[in-house]
Order: sequence, then structure tokens, then C-alpha cells
Amino acid sequence: MKKTDAEIAKTNYTLTARIFHWSFVILFAYGIFKQIENINQLEDLALLKFEITFALLFILFLVARFVYMTRTQKSSLPPDTPGAQKVLAKAVHYGMYIGMISIAFSGLVIGSLYWLGLKSGIFIETLIGWHEVSVSIVYWLVGIHLIGAIYHWFKNDGVWQSMIPKLNRGK
Ligand code: HEM
Ligand code: HEM
Repeated sequence: MKKTDAEIAKTNYTLTARIFHWSFVILFAYGIFKQIENINQLEDLALLKFEITFALLFILFLVARFVYMTRTQKSSLPPDTPGAQKVLAKAVHYGMYIGMISIAFSGLVIGSLYWLGLKSGIFIETLIGWHEVSVSIVYWLVGIHLIGAIYHWFKNDGVWQSMIPKLNRGK
């Protein structure tokens, strides 16, 4: 059954929650766009400093978002959602937080060691491997998350609208 406006409004995320969500989509896309292609690029000290600052801010911002979201917001999945689906959605959300922290943290360790003079070798290679595996996992999780979001758009059950109120269908 289609939800009324009042029911949708009850499950809407706050403006702060939506700003957190969408500014992160932009920040993450930017992080991917400006990615390091080769570790030797870090010879450029200005770039190295920028990467480290970016990763630090990314982590700080992510922690602030997580604290805000878990303390003040609730998932907008309808109460009659099957348990397995609720668990999957939660696992993907937490997975994205963990994966993104892992990308930034491993990048931070790589950058700090590089700055200290450890520029190659098995240890650095392993850290780069960790960094790249984290990136791949987050890509997969974002893909699953997108499929979920589109599924709710088709269902028109208020979940899509709760994060994207302006694209509310049929209004
Ligand atoms: C880099 C891409 C994205 C990431 C990392 C991401 C992350 C998240 C996370 C962690 C949540 C849980 C709430 C929170 O803690 O903020 C969430 C909720 C949500 N996201 Fe995304 N998101 C991304 C892109 C998108 C896109 C492109 C859409 C829509 C097309 C979307 C639609 C939604 C919706 C509808 C919810 C609410 C789900 C619910 O209430 O259970 N997200 N997102
Ligand atoms: C949130 C912050 C970051 C994001 C989103 C990000 C993203 C990426 C992506 C998408 C790749 C390519 C992975 C692949 O090809 O599979 C990559 C590789 C890499 N990143 Fe990052 N990164 C971040 C922070 C950092 C930092 C702070 C450093 C170090 C200062 C760093 C150093 C590297 C290195 C050395 C590689 C591998 C390059 C190679 O293949 O030789 N990253 N990063």
C-alpha cells in the first residue's frame, strides 16, 4: 500500500543526515577521481601533504557522521521488512563505514611511512594491497547499496524518499 505524506515524513532523515550522506558521496567520488596512480607520485611533498590532510579529514568527518547517525537517526525501512533484509541493509551500511575508514587509514599509514623514508619493499607493498582491497570491497558494497536504493524506488515505500525527498514520485 502506498504511504501517505505523514507516514513518509515520520521516517525521513533530518537535513543534517542528508547533507552528511550526499556530501560523502561527493567526497568519496573526489577521492576516487584524484587517486594515486603510482607511489612515486608521493615524491611531490605538496601532494603527499594534501593526501594526508585529505585522509585525516575524511576519517574525522566519517566518525562524526557515524556518531550523529547512530545516536539520532533510524533506518527508514518499513517495520514489516523481512529480518534478513534488515540485517543485509545494516551490514552493507556498516561495511561501507568500515571499508571507507580502512581506505583512508591504510592511505594514511602509507603516506606517513613514505614521509619517514620507507618508500618501497614488502611492507609498503602489503599496505598498498590492503588499501586496494579496501577500495574494491567498498565498490562492491556501494553497488549493492545502489541496487537496494533502486529497489526501494520501484517499491515506492518511502525509503528512497527518506534520503532523496526531492525526487519523490507521484507528488
Ligand atoms: C558513495 C556512495 C554511497 C555511500 C558510501 C552511502 C552510504 C550510506 C549509508 C552508510 C547509509 C546509512 C545511513 C547513514 O549512516 O548515513 C545510507 C543510507 C541510504 N542511502 Fe546511501 N550511500 C551512497 C550512495 C547512495 C546513492 C547514490 C543513493 C541513491 C541513489 C543512496 C540512497 C540511500 C538511501 C535511500 C538510504 C536510506 C536507507 C535506510 O533508511 O535504511 N545512497 N547510505
Ligand atoms: C580517502 C582517501 C583515499 C582514497 C578514496 C583513495 C583511493 C585510492 C584508489 C581508488 C586507488 C586505486 C586502487 C586500485 O587501483 O585498485 C588508490 C591507490 C593508491 N593510493 Fe589511495 N586513496 C586515499 C588515500 C590515500 C593516501 C592518504 C595515500 C598516501 C599518501 C594513498 C596512496 C595510494 C597508493 C600508494 C596507491 C597505489 C598506487 C599504485 O598502484 O602504485 N591513498 N587510492
